[in-house]
Order: sequence, then C-alpha cells, then structure tokens
Amino acid sequence: MADAVHIPDEAEVRAKWRGFKFTAANKKTADMYVARYPDGRQQSAVMALLDLAQRQVGEETKTQGWLPVPVIEYVAAYLGMPYMRAYEVATFYTMFNLQPVGEHFVQFCGTTPCALRGAEAIRKVCEEVIGPQSTVTADGKLSWLEVECLGACCN
Ligand code: FES
Repeated sequence: MADAVHIPDEAEVRAKWRGFKFTAANKKTADMYVARYPDGRQQSAVMALLDLAQRQVGEETKTQGWLPVPVIEYVAAYLGMPYMRAYEVATFYTMFNLQPVGEHFVQFCGTTPCALRGAEAIRKVCEEVIGPQSTVTADGKLSWLEVECLGACCN
C-alpha cells in the first residue's frame, strides 16, 4: 500500500497560496460545472473544481499541479461547503496531489497484479533517477508516487 503523504500546511505555504482564486477563464469554467447541478447540489461539482484548481496551480508553478490547503479551502468556500468535506475528497483520490510535484510526475501502480508484472523495477528506477517518493528533484523537473490500482485488474 502506498505510504501516507505529509500534507504541507506550514505558514509559508499558507502565505504563498492564501490569495488563490480562479482566473477569469477558470471561474467561467467553474461556474459552468456548478450550473450542471440543481439548486442546493452545487457541492457535487467539488471534484471538477478541485481538478481545475490543481491545474491552475500547475500552470502557476510550471508543474503538474497540486492542492495546497488554502486552495482546498478556496474551493470549499466557492461551493459553500465545509472545508473538511472538500478535504476528504482531495485526500481520497490519488488524482489530487497533496504535495508539490514536478513538471513531469511519474505515477505507477504498486498493487499486486502490477507488482507481479514488475512494478518493483519501476520503483527502483524512480528511486535511482528521481530520489525518494514524493520529493521533487532540485531542478523541479521530476517527482514520483506509487498509487493503487485504477483498473480493478484483479477482476
Ligand atoms: Fe496495477 Fe491494476 S493492479 S493498474
């Protein structure tokens, strides 16, 4: 099983991302997602808005993007939902990055079927070339993460 990640919530992270808000174009997209749901069900757009926010952070950092805590708070407030509900979604899906990632972000499955097909060799290459899991190379180019099966391969 993949290790639990450290979720950065230090003062400097909060200071950097405290003022996050959607760009005009992303706000338009966010509102389009929200409008897909009936009145009172706007929170159903949380995954789409978290993804949009992560992509915007990625554009701003020239990486694949991640979700600093203040950005998750912004999305929760945007949808009028408790922060913890948005946080639960962000922490459940590995598509949401809770730590900074590189410009190129390698994810590989470490679940049994892939392990039997050689995933461990990929891990070794990542450790040798990039370094420990969930760290970004000094040049900001590379990071990697082991994830769980997304394809129900055991079936
Ligand atoms: Fe690896 Fe399904 S077991 S993708």
